[in-house]
Amino acid sequence: MSKKITVTIDGGSGVGKGTISKLIAQKLQYQLIDSGAMYRTMSCLLYSNSISPNDVTKEHLSHIKFYYIDSKLYVSYKNKNEDKYENKHEEEHFEVEQLPIRTQENSQNSSKYAVITIIREHVTTQIKEIMSKGGFVLEGRDAGSVIYPQAQVKFYIECPIDVRAKRRLEDYKQKGILYTQLEVEQELEERDHRDMNRETDPLIIPKNAFIITNDDSKTLDKRVEEMINIIEYTISKL
Ligand code: DC
Repeated sequence: MSKKITVTIDGGSGVGKGTISKLIAQKLQYQLIDSGAMYRTMSCLLYSNSISPNDVTKEHLSHIKFYYIDSKLYVSYKNKNEDKYENKHEEEHFEVEQLPIRTQENSQNSSKYAVITIIREHVTTQIKEIMSKGGFVLEGRDAGSVIYPQAQVKFYIECPIDVRAKRRLEDYKQKGILYTQLEVEQELEERDHRDMNRETDPLIIPKNAFIITNDDSKTLDKRVEEMINIIEYTISKL
């Protein structure tokens, strides 16, 4: 496949878009941009510095910068409180997956920080800078509607709540975390509700998106193969 395009993949919590996006990026040899990981990192850094969503300022955000090295997402962060009280000025650099961004607490927190308009603008601006050329799979909740509406192929992943909760419950069990199916369904629905009803950039089905239902009626490989076929067909028509 010669020509490189941009593919966006949006959807609610636990629909499987992370797994699907990773597989598609690997198959196409494209860079995957996980915008959710950026929101999770912002929430993790701000919360651990006692900055609540409503207190976030542009000044706080100007010290958070994302960049990729060898397909891994990094963040540089300068902690202003430390500057003030301990006279420390160093900028810290973290590989984001080494931070506790995927805990249950941060999963809930991240969707609270993600309703804040200046946080959304900060993430969107940085992603646009990173994506100044083709060859990206951009995963998120406003990827095809706000960040990159000009993407040549847009997908919206959906999945029934009971199937999502069953899969999530299995992940939790493997990590030794015990919840009931109902608790997991409520947690996913609560996050979806916040993401779909926020004022800025709510989760919607992007215009012209292919809707993919990621239920148990097909294997993951089959589903990804069908999505790759759509992408290849689109590239052949360019
Ligand atoms: O995809 P995820 O679960 O890692 O995303 C974490 C949170 O970030 C999610 O609750 C909503 C928010 N998010 C967003 O608002 N916009 C995006 N493009 C990606 C994620």
